[in-house]
Amino acid sequence: MKNIENKVVIITGASSGIGEETARLLALNGAKVVLSARREDRLRDLVRQIGEDRAAYCVSDVSEPDDMKKLVRTAKERFGRVDVLFANAGIMPAGNMSELKTDDWKRMIDINICGVLNSMAAVLPEFIAQKQGHIIVTSSCAGLRSVPGNAVYCGTKHFVKAMLDSFRMEAIGEGSNIRTTTIYPGAVKTELLNTVAPSPAKTAVEEFSEKNAILPEDIAGAVLYAVSQNDNVDVSEVVVKSIREA
Ligand SMILES: NC(=O)c1ccc[n+]([C@@H]2O[C@H](COP(=O)([O-])OP(=O)(O)OC[C@H]3O[C@@H](n4cnc5c(N)ncnc54)[C@H](OP(=O)(O)O)[C@@H]3O)[C@@H](O)[C@H]2O)c1
Repeated sequence: MKNIENKVVIITGASSGIGEETARLLALNGAKVVLSARREDRLRDLVRQIGEDRAAYCVSDVSEPDDMKKLVRTAKERFGRVDVLFANAGIMPAGNMSELKTDDWKRMIDINICGVLNSMAAVLPEFIAQKQGHIIVTSSCAGLRSVPGNAVYCGTKHFVKAMLDSFRMEAIGEGSNIRTTTIYPGAVKTELLNTVAPSPAKTAVEEFSEKNAILPEDIAGAVLYAVSQNDNVDVSEVVVKSIREA
């Protein structure tokens, strides 16, 4: 596969779902992957499966800026540099605004918004210094079109689109050669709803997902496509969803 061999790719949210399958696929195609999440047992197993010559992990919480700096240090110590950040960690505790689950609102802002910013802040000095890099962020189709039952989540995913659109223009203006890709998955069969308390909003998402979900490896394929393009090619936005999802 062109332009991916030995690239060092940091992946947040790598302990399950989209992040895990992306780690497998990129490593299979020659990348070196540095995995971030909170569940160490999952990360350790995945590194063992991929192979320690191609994978390393750093137990880290995206909402902690120091953890993201530690993650970048791990990548540099283990593989010498960072070429790509896949900022993918996220949560979706579904619920109507009227339920006033304000703790969930805050957690989504901390992880889905601040988590992306913290990881970008940690890699940007590297990318600016080497005049090269690639930032890929997982938004959602909910970042393009809002839906009921998930208002704050939709807001966080719209933030990702807006922020990366502006950053893309800044990077062009500054001539930093930093590529940016926003990925918009539709429903994907992952663990995203596993820890969410039962609610009518959760049931609605589960029913939708049951009918429409594609697989995490389908999103991994889009990340591989974006990473492996020639350096002068920016795959700016990719929407990936089931042929049944409107
Ligand atoms: N599944 C879908 O239908 C769908 C659709 C559109 C967009 N997305 C987006 O896709 C991304 C990946 O989600 P997924 O569907 O693959 O779900 P998932 O299987 O639940 O994966 C979420 C990942 O995020 C990590 N994570 C959560 N909070 C974290 C924190 N504070 N610090 C570090 N890592 C954290 C989790 O690891 P730990 O718990 O081990 O920390 C896990 O690895 C999310 O941004 C999600 O919003 C998903």
